[in-house]
Amino acid sequence: MNSFPQKLHDKLNDRKNNQAIRTLKIPNNLVDFSSNDYLGFSISEKIYERTNHLLQSKNLKANGAKGSRLLTGNHSLYLETEEFISTLYTQEAALIFNSGYDANLGLLSSIPQRGDIILYDDLIHASLRDGISMSHANAYKFKHNDLKDIQTLCTRIKNKRHVSNADPIEIYVVTESVFSMDGDSPDLNTLASYCQENNLKLIVDEAHAVGIFSLGLVHQLKLEDKVFATILTFGKGLGCHGAAILGSKLLKEFLVNFSRSFIYTTALPPHSVATIYSALQQLKLESEKEDSEIQKLNSNILFFKNELQQLDLDKHFIASNSAIQCCIISGNEKVKNCSEALIKEGYDVKAILSPTVSEEKERLRFCLHSYNSEEEISGVLKTLKKVLIQ
Ligand SMILES: Cc1ncc(COP(=O)(O)O)c(C=O)c1O
Repeated sequence: MNSFPQKLHDKLNDRKNNQAIRTLKIPNNLVDFSSNDYLGFSISEKIYERTNHLLQSKNLKANGAKGSRLLTGNHSLYLETEEFISTLYTQEAALIFNSGYDANLGLLSSIPQRGDIILYDDLIHASLRDGISMSHANAYKFKHNDLKDIQTLCTRIKNKRHVSNADPIEIYVVTESVFSMDGDSPDLNTLASYCQENNLKLIVDEAHAVGIFSLGLVHQLKLEDKVFATILTFGKGLGCHGAAILGSKLLKEFLVNFSRSFIYTTALPPHSVATIYSALQQLKLESEKEDSEIQKLNSNILFFKNELQQLDLDKHFIASNSAIQCCIISGNEKVKNCSEALIKEGYDVKAILSPTVSEEKERLRFCLHSYNSEEEISGVLKTLKKVLIQ
């Protein structure tokens, strides 16, 4: 057997020494405060049945797509689903990718061109960062959710360009509507207006807003015309898998031609696309009806925040109106111990360690769901209170 390189051994050992080694675990059946299945769609029988019905009615009995979408993989359901998504989201076009990771990689690595500028929030997801690092554009980060910092960077860029009298460039601003590790949001209305007034191209990742803020925040705030590209992911609030980029027809045409993570990969099998279609139909229904899963989730978010205040725990938490609520507990070892103590009492709450978040900002990340009961929410927070004063 080949020996494993010493440098790689050293990196693994560093992770172990920092209490940050990652291991694969089988999911438990504790009270779920950690999955991204915000509305319980991953186990919805309605979605499962609708998917099967759809596949049967179209006589789509394939296990796989047989190739990339540009070759043999572009089955009819893809086109219908993209049409359904663009109509639902009142956008000109939608393009499905195999995952949110692929969508972000493919978008950021292909759209900004050499000489263009990308301004990105300090806390954006790894998939957006990886796309940016593959781009030939110049990238600068701005302080988290800080429009003033974007304005300062823009002024600096303008002054520099004025002096050098350079060719026209595009400036892209990249953010999330709900941040995956903090659960907070930018002031999207103000940011979108600023971008429109200053001809900046705004890109918004909606991974953790879909299903929490109805169909997503860009749609809810009617910002479609002010946003250059919106990323929806289907593995979280929709409980299945895949992603879509929404925007103009030209954006779609460009991505089909230049986005490498779209072009050079086998397409999703018909079953996955049918599940996306069915889950989106369910989300549409939920967004229109009374006593929906969306409303149950939002009342759980309010209840959680209310309990935080009652128990005087809010000072430990990052302010958030979303389904992601984070309690800062500095130090990998300390936060892991707190997570284990909650797990022992039956609550699945994950510790988020550095380097996933920055040092001193390690945290317990509570993901709330429509199916969590108020009793479970009170229970986990009372247990947390005990664990924090130990
Ligand atoms: C903000 C954000 N964008 C993109 C992704 C990637 O999505 P997917 O899981 O579909 O690859 C994630 C997943 O963790 C995320 O949190």
